[in-house]
Amino acid sequence: MWIFAYLNYQVPRTRKEIFEMLVKGLQRLEYRGYDSAGVAVDGSKKTATDINGNTICLIKKQGKVKALDEELYKKDSLDLDEELYTHFGLAHTRWATHGEPSAVNSHPHRSDKDNEFVVIHNGIITNYKELKKYLISQGYEFESETDTEVIPKLIKYVYDNRESDTVSFSMLVERVIKQLEGAFALVFKSRHFPGEAVSTRRGSPLLIGVRSKFELLTEQIPVQYNSGELLRPQGALDVYIVFVESTYSAIIEHTNKVLYLEDDDVAVVKEGKLSIHRMNRQAGEDPIRAIQTLQMELQQIMKGNFDAFMQKEIFEQPESVVNTMRGRICFDTNNVVLGGLKDHLKEIKRCRRLIMIGCGTSFHAAVATRQILEELTELPVMVELASDFLDRYTPVFRDDVCFFISQSGETADTLMALRYCKEHGALTVGITNTVGSSICRETDCGVHINAGPEIGVASTKAYTSQFVALTMFSLMMSEDKLSLQKRRLDIINGLRMLPELIRKVLALDEKIKSIANELYEQRSLLVMGRGFNYATCLEGALKIKEITYMHSEGILAGELKHGPLALIDKDMPVIMLIMKDGCYTKCHNALQQIKARSGRPIIICCQDDYEAIKNAYQTIELPQTVDCLQGILSVIPLQLLSFHLAVLRGFDVSGLTLLTWQEPD
Ligand code: F6R
Repeated sequence: MWIFAYLNYQVPRTRKEIFEMLVKGLQRLEYRGYDSAGVAVDGSKKTATDINGNTICLIKKQGKVKALDEELYKKDSLDLDEELYTHFGLAHTRWATHGEPSAVNSHPHRSDKDNEFVVIHNGIITNYKELKKYLISQGYEFESETDTEVIPKLIKYVYDNRESDTVSFSMLVERVIKQLEGAFALVFKSRHFPGEAVSTRRGSPLLIGVRSKFELLTEQIPVQYNSGELLRPQGALDVYIVFVESTYSAIIEHTNKVLYLEDDDVAVVKEGKLSIHRMNRQAGEDPIRAIQTLQMELQQIMKGNFDAFMQKEIFEQPESVVNTMRGRICFDTNNVVLGGLKDHLKEIKRCRRLIMIGCGTSFHAAVATRQILEELTELPVMVELASDFLDRYTPVFRDDVCFFISQSGETADTLMALRYCKEHGALTVGITNTVGSSICRETDCGVHINAGPEIGVASTKAYTSQFVALTMFSLMMSEDKLSLQKRRLDIINGLRMLPELIRKVLALDEKIKSIANELYEQRSLLVMGRGFNYATCLEGALKIKEITYMHSEGILAGELKHGPLALIDKDMPVIMLIMKDGCYTKCHNALQQIKARSGRPIIICCQDDYEAIKNAYQTIELPQTVDCLQGILSVIPLQLLSFHLAVLRGFDVSGLTLLTWQEPD
């Protein structure tokens, strides 16, 4: 979900120019994927019928921004040539998480049929069900299936119940966010406060860009703990509000003067003055927000360095894992709440066993997390390939809890296994990346991994996000187990550090490319490991098979002496995973067996593991993390290796390159 908002204060712009600005803002964010788009702008004064003469017009459309753009020009009631001296417009692209892609579920969302308050949102509101129930009991009517809609309804409720007319727009927003749980970047517009912009964030990044012909009075904005003003240029001002994560593309073409909001900051632009408000001052808090100057060119951001979606998605993993955790892990309190499972937790804790079912990469995510699930849930955990599970008519009971892991949410075998388990009365849980998919709809409850659309044919970022989601589930299940608290804290800390460590692994790309250069003419590639990293072997070998058309096999190192050792000689390329965990010594034993047969192992190990380095033909040294998360880091070199091997072997890696990719109509 991407946000773009634009306010012009005493800068005359026609409505057409405003539309163009909003649509362009969305187009700059378009490559991140979305399924619907919408804008909110002021209605034409000439046709306004309400008391203040202020109306807000919402235009929303399922599909591409192009479809929205066409729709904007169809609105006869909007005078495109009307010149607006001061105006605030909102724009949003949505990628469905709560409710299917449709115009009504897309943003901006509104408080009521008169559009008194409208809101765009990025993130997730985890307590929306409770808020919705309360608001319904107070007579507020909902029209969408989204979590976001509680926000405009709630601000109207707060407005309707305000103690006096002196309550400002920002105070209303402060009262609203006090009630919200989860993660959000929000921008509000209201008929009651024309030309005024209010935005806030918690957990989701939000950037404000400012541009003025006149010099800004200050670039150090003091935070207001009740009310006040700040950045006041002597006249006209353009303000752009954009949700940022790894892209500045929507803002950089307008201005390089930006301001980052902190969690729970409420930014207000009123009569050309930008102010930052907070409810309370916390100890140690910086009371200043500085305007910064971005040092980058639009060209740089749009071009990127990616030749294919698969490559882009591999490099998105520092962000996609954060999106999976967003609003679910509170790193201050070490609380983990998966909103979609909250209501079923008691039942899950009472179950006889957990059965994790999936195909391909999604199955590997289950293999990867099985050990930590067993350890933290203290339940038996079965991992099952959906097709084999069905072939065996596996016995399933009413007190089983069955997880269906699927990026697409549509894989036929996984879906059939789901129906089979439902027939047998088990509780069914979906772990998917696609809202509104069949698995999503047919399971009793579930978790959206929120990895963002995966366009590349080979699954990469969905795997690491499934890994994180299942690990979070194990953390949620063990919250009240005293003896497991130290372990839980280590893992939560590991998750907090994960994006940084992933970045460090991605920085090894050149080294991995050089290894690919040595390997690409080979016919076969074995990948060996055990314990927490066994799944990495399976997943790495699958990636290599799938996109390089090279034979590859993931081998459990403990099985080496039971047959596979026969394959080893000086010509057989072998990749070994040797991490500093409970299997370290056993892995070294396997390494000695490989060496004894003149094998030349490429070892993926932890940084500065000299014992491994001295026995290796080549090494890829990774940062070390908690044992059960190491597989997230160790799979990335194999994702990169398979990508480079495929390119070197002359294959089109994703079938869909960035330059030629078009969204299906
Ligand atoms: C491998 C890959 C496949 C899928 C499998 C299941 O790169 O993409 O192995 O993982 O087809 O698909 P989903 O997860 O959509 O059920």
